[in-house]
Amino acid sequence: MSKELIDGLNQSLQLEIMAIIMYLNHSYMVFGPNRKAMSDTLKGIARQEMNHMETLSKRIVGLGGVPTVKYPQINQTDRIEEMLKNDINAEKGGIERYKRNRELAEREGDLPTVNMLDTIIQQEQEHLDEFNNMMKHNPL
Ligand SMILES: [Fe+2]
Ligand SMILES: [Fe+2]
Repeated sequence: MSKELIDGLNQSLQLEIMAIIMYLNHSYMVFGPNRKAMSDTLKGIARQEMNHMETLSKRIVGLGGVPTVKYPQINQTDRIEEMLKNDINAEKGGIERYKRNRELAEREGDLPTVNMLDTIIQQEQEHLDEFNNMMKHNPL
């Protein structure tokens, strides 16, 4: 049970909290003909990030740590393309952080955490694909 892994998972937790708030905010702030569909997609992804927050927090407690309530600053914009760019960057950054945590967990022989992270990484990749598709088909 290393402090390094707990700290790494807390870094991921910070990014999850940021993603929940940012995606929900974007779901309220998207306008235009695709508003409803984009808003629903953003809300659905925010809900999955909330599940990630829960899974991570429980694991951090299981490892003897304290789940953080901090999160990085969110830059707001009212332009849909900028929103999607921020969403894409959030997913890319999140996946990178998760991959480093996975390596760490594997080195420590913590297979339950490795499996947990594999599931989350797969879902983050789906989010990234979804945001990339939204960016592609966004008429603005
Ligand atoms: Fe997530
Ligand atoms: Fe995600």
